[in-house]
Amino acid sequence: MNSCVIIGAQWGDEGKGKVVDLFTEAADLVVRFQGGNNAGHTLVVDGPEGPEKTVLHLIPSGILHAEKTNIIASGVVVDPEVLLGELEELAERGRPVPHERLRISRDAHVILPWHRALDLAREAARGESRIGTTGRGIGPTYEDRVARRGVRLRDLLDEERLRERLEQVLPERNALLAHLGAETFDLEDMVRHGLAFGERLAPWLDDCGAILENARRRGQRILLEGAQGTLLDIGHGTYPFVTSSHTISGGACVGAGLPPSAIGGVVGIAKAYCTRVGSGPFPTELEDADGDTLRANGHEFGATTGRPRRCGWFDVPAMRFAHRVNGFTGLAITKLDVLTGFSRVRICTAYVVDGERVDVADPDGTVLERAVPVYEDLPGWSEDITGAQTLDDLPPHARGLLDRIAELTGIPVDLVSVGPNRAQTIVLTRPFGA
Ligand code: IMP
Repeated sequence: MNSCVIIGAQWGDEGKGKVVDLFTEAADLVVRFQGGNNAGHTLVVDGPEGPEKTVLHLIPSGILHAEKTNIIASGVVVDPEVLLGELEELAERGRPVPHERLRISRDAHVILPWHRALDLAREAARGESRIGTTGRGIGPTYEDRVARRGVRLRDLLDEERLRERLEQVLPERNALLAHLGAETFDLEDMVRHGLAFGERLAPWLDDCGAILENARRRGQRILLEGAQGTLLDIGHGTYPFVTSSHTISGGACVGAGLPPSAIGGVVGIAKAYCTRVGSGPFPTELEDADGDTLRANGHEFGATTGRPRRCGWFDVPAMRFAHRVNGFTGLAITKLDVLTGFSRVRICTAYVVDGERVDVADPDGTVLERAVPVYEDLPGWSEDITGAQTLDDLPPHARGLLDRIAELTGIPVDLVSVGPNRAQTIVLTRPFGA
């Protein structure tokens, strides 16, 4: 049981990148298992000229550690252009990624230009009822995968096979694109485009299932890096305002090809408040000055799209639901420092839905839309906490908030983040039981 899964416990953007980067110290391999470049994981580490910020969309957040193996497993959808761009950017910044440090599953599905075009055209056609996707082609690529007409990375290595795959999928997709008034794509152009990427990506492609099995046999520690958040899960989130993959802990097994018995810890990452990008229900959303303060102090603008995030108070019923589907062994509470300066901090402890008290969220969009939060008010604090290294360094009211979250959710707090840097972290329980 040498595997630990890191899961977004809310609607994404919880600060998973920082926690994965930190926990990588204790791991041998870091694995992305779902989603694609809809994710934006931000890492801040000290460089020769001060703190350096790196935003990763596809490459696992363990990449800044020199000796660890990073894996993009078959559950991820890969945009070759974005991946190669990310590798080039790292190289330009003096952090080149040798082939042996990044292995990519041959079976991962490929995001092709028409997937992006379809994502954007569909959203435009939906008008007011749009999902608010990132426009990166994630949904259409997973759709092709499930419909058994997708293109996998291994298909980009073989012209005959690629042409055969494209002949199956492209005419139908072009017809739909034309219907939506969007640009269509030429099959031969797509073959050339795909093969060119295949040639460049070939040295990275591998049998990642075998790598993980060997690692497990040798007793190595595997850190599984979730993307997005629990409430965006395709099966358990606020459908239809969700992403197209399984973002919950069970998704780690499916996406990486690991048996459930391999999973030891499941750490849920949660902000000390809540945010959401895109459309969909959000019971504790604040459309007032407190919401603006959270957005400004927390720099709540998307790492991928730059969109302003919707902000609200910590939501316990949603966290209880997240615990139900993920089985968290611990919580990492991030961005506690963003709450500094509020005279009172609120926690939503329950909802009232149609006159009934509800303790655990039902994420169905139509139910959650009617949920009225019941708040508990806690006293705030004004002391700067960005240098705190232990719980004792925190003002009593900040500790009080952490204790109350643990008590109401029934999940122990493993880690508290008080700023973007690696060093601005209070680690209470180490991953892998170390
Ligand atoms: P898609 O994943 O681009 O299809 O977008 C579907 C929904 O998930 C939209 O509401 C997006 O804003 C949201 N979403 C996708 N990726 C992320 C993420 O990494 N963080 C937060 N929200 C995300």
